[in-house]
Amino acid sequence: MFERKSGIILIAGIGFFALAFLSNAVVPVLMYRHLPEQTAEQLVNGNLRYQFEDLAQRFPQAFETAYGQPPADPEKAGRWYDEHCASALKLGHQIYVGEGCWHCHSQFVRPVSNEDRRWGPVSKSWEYQNELQRPVMFGTRRVGPDLSREGGRRSSDWHAVHFFEPEALSQKSPMPRYPWLFDGSPDKPNIRGLALITYIQWLGSWHETYPYYEDYTAVPIKTAAAAE
Ligand code: HEC
Repeated sequence: MFERKSGIILIAGIGFFALAFLSNAVVPVLMYRHLPEQTAEQLVNGNLRYQFEDLAQRFPQAFETAYGQPPADPEKAGRWYDEHCASALKLGHQIYVGEGCWHCHSQFVRPVSNEDRRWGPVSKSWEYQNELQRPVMFGTRRVGPDLSREGGRRSSDWHAVHFFEPEALSQKSPMPRYPWLFDGSPDKPNIRGLALITYIQWLGSWHETYPYYEDYTAVPIKTAAAAE
């Protein structure tokens, strides 16, 4: 049976499919059945709130156009920021999906190839147990860097300029421009631009090592030319 075509089809085609389905679908579902999925509101943490209020200071006009004025009462203002921050996360996530950022960026630091030395701690499954990972944003390939620990790595105005014109900050960057996230210039992100920046600043903001890149120093990569 093992040497016949039908045997190979049975084992390779059906057998391994069943095994993969069991290990990649059934087992995780059973393992995480009791872990509640977090909502965007629950994902607003202190690090992210700081970045969101920082957006309000860096882009006061754009922020006011998008969200209006926070209430004068400090307690109400706190809730106001939290609510807008959560809705910005959701919108930012939609834009990330819609613009196809995941065609070029992964959100998964793998436990191989010393990836953690480049991109921070290896991703754990609990990090994906939330609303903003539906559908999961593992990505399909890496034209650009992994973004799992991107939050806090760059300032929000860096991101604004970069989304407006990647080449202004990174020579010959193949990343597309996203001018429709702005009302004209990089200092005027619209509600979608602010949301996408919020989403990017959220990535990894939940992790105990945040901000992972505070002491980041780039390790020069040996190029083929230098090796010669
Ligand atoms: C065609 C592939 C491509 C697409 C699509 C793309 N990027 Fe990029 N991205 C890159 C590459 C390459 C880099 C590295 C060069 C640079 O900084 O521009 C990069 C860099 C970045 C960085 C900076 C990472 C760092 O700290 O060095 C961020 C953040 C980012 N992209 C977010 C996004 C978002 C959000 C989208 C969707 C709106 C997006 N990218 C779409 C290719 C892409």
